[in-house]
Amino acid sequence: MKPFYHFSDEENKQLTHFFNQIVISPYVHYQEFKYVVSELCQLKRVPGFFVDICNSIKDERKQGISDIHVLRNCPRDTDIPELDPDNPLADKYKKKKTFIGEALLETFSLLTGTPLLAYGSRHNGDFFTDVVAIRKYSGQLTGFSDSELVYHNDRTAHAVRADFVTLLGLRCPDEELIFTGYIDGKELIKHLSEELQEALRQPWYRTEFDVYSRETNSRQISSPDHAILKNHHSIRYLDTLTQVAPCAPVQAKEALIAFMQAMTKAEKQRHRIIQGDLLVFANQDGLHNREKIDIQNKENAARRWLLKTYAFRDEKQAAQYKDYWDNGIFGRVND
Ligand SMILES: [Fe+2]
Repeated sequence: MKPFYHFSDEENKQLTHFFNQIVISPYVHYQEFKYVVSELCQLKRVPGFFVDICNSIKDERKQGISDIHVLRNCPRDTDIPELDPDNPLADKYKKKKTFIGEALLETFSLLTGTPLLAYGSRHNGDFFTDVVAIRKYSGQLTGFSDSELVYHNDRTAHAVRADFVTLLGLRCPDEELIFTGYIDGKELIKHLSEELQEALRQPWYRTEFDVYSRETNSRQISSPDHAILKNHHSIRYLDTLTQVAPCAPVQAKEALIAFMQAMTKAEKQRHRIIQGDLLVFANQDGLHNREKIDIQNKENAARRWLLKTYAFRDEKQAAQYKDYWDNGIFGRVND
């Protein structure tokens, strides 16, 4: 995908200098970290060109021009440690001593008006998580594996789902071609008749939680029955794990087959995240996947590390979930 904006080396330097001021660990003192970032934003200390880019992305979303954007040559931490594949999170806490990537993602969230979302039962409730391969999930259908991933929304089976997913390439081995695919919900529904769309709007489907969710939270087994289509083109679907619910009528199955065929037919965008790329896309108004196009060395490919955040569309959307907040911490879902 063509980047929406490519930071010059001079702009990268200015941003790095700005984010370098933020030395509080978001993993130990998240509230203080967030406060410092928002103070700097309010005092208009953020380089103006970055504010303009965030505003342009907001505009493109609002006008329906695009729900997926890439920023290239973003500032990032220079010391990216190798993580223990058996327990990368504990290893990150030990080894990652600068937080430029985290500060960039927090600032991006603030300037685009999309509040961050975290899950209490995952990664100790961290707002910044890692897309890394955990050895025990190798080959399995979860984002925490070295596998390809079928088209899906993140946290499909969960009651609280992000509107946007942001990924920052911290380590992306040059030789390994791993792509993120994206289908815009608007493109997908072009291939479904009104009648099929209506069937997909009924609560005739059910989605299992993935292996990582089931293992980290014993309450997470399956979603309640849900619709696949909502709003104009929002989707709730995890390929191979979203099934027709047991009591659903026969049209439910026909509509599911048509939906899968629409996925095949729909126009797709693909992006290879390289180091310093920020890729942000709609989680519910589209579907995404992961494809390993050309892997030279499996172990090298498994060293890939993306820093990730989840975000709500806006404050109003986040506020709808306030009963879920963990100890009153805005955006952290107690699950
Ligand atoms: Fe995903």
